[in-house]
Amino acid sequence: MNEQTLSMRLERVAAHMPAGARLADIGSDHAYLPVALLRRGAIAMAVAGEVALTPFRAAERTVGENGLEQQISVRLANGLAAIEPEDGITAISLCGMGGETIRDILDSGKARLSGQERLILQPNGGEQPLRQWLMENDYRILCEEVLRENRFYYEIIVAERAGPVTYTAEELYFGPLQLQARNPIFLAKWQRLLCQKQKTLTSFAKARQAVPEEKLQDIARQARWITELLA
Ligand SMILES: C[S@@+](CC[C@H](N)C(=O)[O-])C[C@H]1O[C@@H](n2cnc3c(N)ncnc32)[C@H](O)[C@@H]1O
Repeated sequence: MNEQTLSMRLERVAAHMPAGARLADIGSDHAYLPVALLRRGAIAMAVAGEVALTPFRAAERTVGENGLEQQISVRLANGLAAIEPEDGITAISLCGMGGETIRDILDSGKARLSGQERLILQPNGGEQPLRQWLMENDYRILCEEVLRENRFYYEIIVAERAGPVTYTAEELYFGPLQLQARNPIFLAKWQRLLCQKQKTLTSFAKARQAVPEEKLQDIARQARWITELLA
């Protein structure tokens, strides 16, 4: 992967970018996403935010090598602290991090959200707590995708603030739109997860030390929901 050839995962994230967006790519690492989008003329400008020095320097290098210093501002900052009101950001991408990390970045940076931005999120696990945060903060999920690349499943969640919205516990767990569409990749992902949950339950049953009842019940409930989904 590089700024010319994105991974399929980032290519699918790119597909949800509004044309001409003013993008904040938080946790940008090498800044491949904003650089690829600018090279294609798909966005107007970008902020590439990074909290760690090595990826921050890598982002600066990619931007410099592509002569995009005027259009992409690379900033060493924690989460949404990379965004300034005068940037006029219209889309925020947070990709390749755990769902809980993305949730925490959004929550601690709430004051920097105008509410007008489209959020394009690609969590690696932890989708349920992330959807919970979206619901609690009036974000409606507009689009969801599951894709498979290099034997891993990835989810993409696109959301915009649109007033109060309610999702059921199952919708938060599986994704409200995924639950309706039930496409083959989504079902294959949950088939794999069901096997993992069943293995966990078997190992709990064999464990010498008692597993907390609450944890056991939680995994049993998840296995039941997935079994019902796949039935
Ligand atoms: C696995 S990389 C993903 C890079 C790229 N977004 C992608 O999807 O390919 C995650 C990046 O997020 C950065 N990161 C983690 N927490 C962050 C935070 N609070 N603020 C900014 N960047 C963060 C890490 O330093 C790392 O470079």
